[in-house]
Parts: sequence; C-alpha cells; structure tokens
Amino acid sequence: MQWNASGHSGILIRGGKVVNDDCSFLADVYIEHGLIQNVGPNLPLPAGVKVIDASGQLVMPGGIDTHTHMQLPLMGVQSVDDFYHGTKAAVAGGTTMILDFVIPSKGTSLLEAYDRWRSWADPKVCCDYSFHVAVTWWNTKVEEEMEVLVNERGVNSFKMFMAYKDVFMLQDDELYLAFCQCKKLGAIAQVHAENGHIIAEAAKRMLAMGICGPEGHELSRPEIVEAEATQRVIAIGSCVNCPVYIVHVMSKSAANVIARARKEGKVVFGEPIAASLGTDGTSYWDKDWRKAAGHVMGPPLRPDPTTPGYLMDLLANDDLSVTGTDNCTFNGCQKALGKDDFTKIPNGVNGVEDRMSIIWEKGVHSGKMDENRFVAVTSTTAAKIFNLYPRKGKIAKGSDADIVVWDPNAVRTISVKTHHQAVDFNIFEGMVCHGVPLVTISRGKVVFDHGNLDVIPGHGKYIPRKPFAEYVFKRIRQRDQICHLKPVQRKSYSGESAAN
Ligand code: URP
Ligand code: ZN
Ligand code: ZN
Repeated sequence: MQWNASGHSGILIRGGKVVNDDCSFLADVYIEHGLIQNVGPNLPLPAGVKVIDASGQLVMPGGIDTHTHMQLPLMGVQSVDDFYHGTKAAVAGGTTMILDFVIPSKGTSLLEAYDRWRSWADPKVCCDYSFHVAVTWWNTKVEEEMEVLVNERGVNSFKMFMAYKDVFMLQDDELYLAFCQCKKLGAIAQVHAENGHIIAEAAKRMLAMGICGPEGHELSRPEIVEAEATQRVIAIGSCVNCPVYIVHVMSKSAANVIARARKEGKVVFGEPIAASLGTDGTSYWDKDWRKAAGHVMGPPLRPDPTTPGYLMDLLANDDLSVTGTDNCTFNGCQKALGKDDFTKIPNGVNGVEDRMSIIWEKGVHSGKMDENRFVAVTSTTAAKIFNLYPRKGKIAKGSDADIVVWDPNAVRTISVKTHHQAVDFNIFEGMVCHGVPLVTISRGKVVFDHGNLDVIPGHGKYIPRKPFAEYVFKRIRQRDQICHLKPVQRKSYSGESAAN
C-alpha cells in the first residue's frame, strides 16, 4: 500500500475509457478515502499514489449482484459459498456488491433473523453488501417488524415466495396484505413466482410414475407454472399499486408476461440471472446424475435451448431490467440427499463469480447490447431500484470507489478447476467468455489484480438503503395522486330489504 502527502492511500486509474450507463468517455479516475475524488482528462499524479494503467481498457462501476444466498440454510443443508468465499469470488469476477436474502422460518421473527444474518456476514464479507428480507408468514407482528426493518435497519425490499409450499410460501391474500405494507413503507415487493400448489401435486405424480431423477424437477414445474404465478403476482401488485420485482426469471413465457405488463405501464421489473442467460435445462436429462443435479434450482432452467438468447434479447431492450445470480451453491454430497428423489435435491446453482463475463459474452460480444447497457444491467439499474444510486452504480466524483477495470477483448474459460467459489461444480464449465476483469477495487482498495486476490474478511460493509427509491416510486406516487378512490354519493336505499 502506498500513501500520498495527506497520509491516505490513493489510486489513479489512468487512460481508460470510463463507462457509465448513459455515456462513455476517456478519462482518468482518482480515488482516495474509499471514494472517487475526481474524474477527468490528464489528472495530476499526487506523490506516492498507486497508478493503474487502464489504456485500452474499460473503467466501469463494479457489478451489483441483486440476488445471492451465501451460507443459506435450505432443505436440511447450508450453501457452501459462505459470505467469505462468495464475496471473494464476486470480486474476482468484477462484482463489488451483493444483495443477499435474510430468510426467516415461518413463525419466527424477521428482526431476529436479520440480526443473525448480519452476524454471519459482517465478519466475512470482502465487499459491500445489503439485505433483502423474506416474508414467509403473515400476521401483525410481521407487519410491525417490516416497519422496523425499513425505518431502522435500512431494508427497502422484501421477498415473498409463491412456491415452497408449507415452508416459505404465502397465499394470495397474504401476498396482497404484504404488498400493501411494502407500498406503505416505500419498499419494493420481490417475488419468487411459481405456483407452489401445482408443484407439490405434480412432484408427487412424477415420483408415482417412477420419475425420480433431476428431470422430474423440471417436469413438475414447467414454464406455465412460472408464467401463471408471474401473471397472478403482477395482477396483485397492480390492484395495490405496489411496485413488483420478479426474481430469477427463468423462462420465455414468464419474461413475456413481464414484458407485456411493462408495455401496459405496470411498475414491474424482471431479473434474469446468470444461469438463465448463460445456459439451459437440457442437462436435467444428462446420464451423469451429478451433472443433472448440479443444475437443479427453482424455477428450473428450461429445456428449450433458445431460452437464454431470448432472455438476453429482452434484457437488451429493457423488457427485463437487471441481473443477479441466485448464487446458492451445494456440493455433490449435499445434492446427493436427493439421489433417489429429485424433490430432496437442494435447490441452487453458482453464478456470482461468472455473471459479468457471461453477460459480456452473451450480451455485448454477441452484439445484442452496448457497453453502456452492460453497465446498466449489471450495476446501475440495480443501484437505482434499490436506492443506492449514485453512491453505487456510477463512476463520478463522490461515488464509492467500487470499480472494475475490464478488458473487453481478453478471453477466459470458466471451470470449477480455476474458479474461486467453494462449490465443487460449475454450471458454466468449459464456456469461453470474452470480457475479463483485470482489476477490481472495493471501497478504494485493490482486491483483485490480474488474477491475484488480496481480500480481507470484514472489509466490506453493510449498506443501509432508504425507502421510496425515486426510480421505482415516482410513478406509483403520481398514480396515487390522480387516482383517488371515493364512494358514490347516493341517497340510502329505502325500498324493501330481505333483512326486514
Ligand atoms: O433454487 C433456488 N433458487 N435456490 C435459492 C432459493 C430461492 O428460491 O431463491
Ligand atoms: Zn426464489
Ligand atoms: Zn434466490
């Protein structure tokens, strides 16, 4: 570490092309005290600062992964990428912030769960992070705790499940009430959209037919199950005038439902993930059980191999809005809990390390999007939706120094042998990707440099988020202002009534 005259570490990123979501320009970037202090041409070089030569490279806001599950207890096991391994892998891939999920069991306190998750994450995280909180049951205590989470813990997003019957699933009336509370508090309602009732019955039917392998996972929750729930939840959100965010969009039909709703003016956002953009569900039929089980997640990857390209088209055109990963990784021995019964295979796949490269390869290198749209879908729009902008998601004076220096032409091959994740499998195995992170800077510190990691557990910080993000709530507020529901003034009915 080098120190400048004022005694603080400084970094000058020299000669790169700064890429934000709205424009690109040649400029130097000067960093000190964890913040971007200056952006401009030919910046002076203070004594003793570290210089990063970025000529020929892109200087972009670090990625924001909107959806991870580090060390999540699920289906009797805990995901193996914990907050240390998961965030270490994130920065190796150019991501500098994750949004993870606190998921309390039914009947338990949201606040206690939040505290527990903080105690897991705070000492381990190698980059900044924040928490969405799941609402897995409903009563007035939950309603009150949501208010405390928003006002005192910096939470502005709640996830509701329409699947995982009897475990996390809410019924439609509960969703309606949870959405009312989200809207009142200025939080966005995130939803896992799959019809949990159908899944439960269809899974029993598959097992009865002797279909016990991973293919049964997809067969019991086909596209229509995802699309129906997506349509239903958008309808519920619309009734309440509450913004809705569909997590892990996995199918063409669910994406079409979202695209149509957006065209109709509904305030809805769709989040495809690295897995659904980068690969497909044909592996569920693979003869190698481990490989097939390694792809099991909910909603499933789709057997239609044109799905990833289709989702990327919609992402490029803003029918879908942001990208996460749903990184929730289980080793082979954990997946093997379901070796004779697919319903017992722990759900989840990797992605946190590879998301940026996958999106560059399939989005930019394919010609579907430009570098600015890449920044929008990997970082800036997430910052706007979750009220982190312009602190995060932008290269500008005053923003956090969360930066990736990106080589758009370098190539790497993804493999479990070289990834930095704890998990023993990679769903993108063998994929060749253009677009490689050269240097990752988190909170003003170089944490990844040409393949070398220099991370410190606890270096990252929890980032509280204020409610009522303008990007999400402006239209909601406008609609409320012009749409006052009021009763019709009429004389009371004086005719005969069956009650008399
Ligand atoms: O399979 C998945 N998606 N595992 C994580 C839990 C969830 O539903 O997001
Ligand atoms: Zn989910
Ligand atoms: Zn998830």
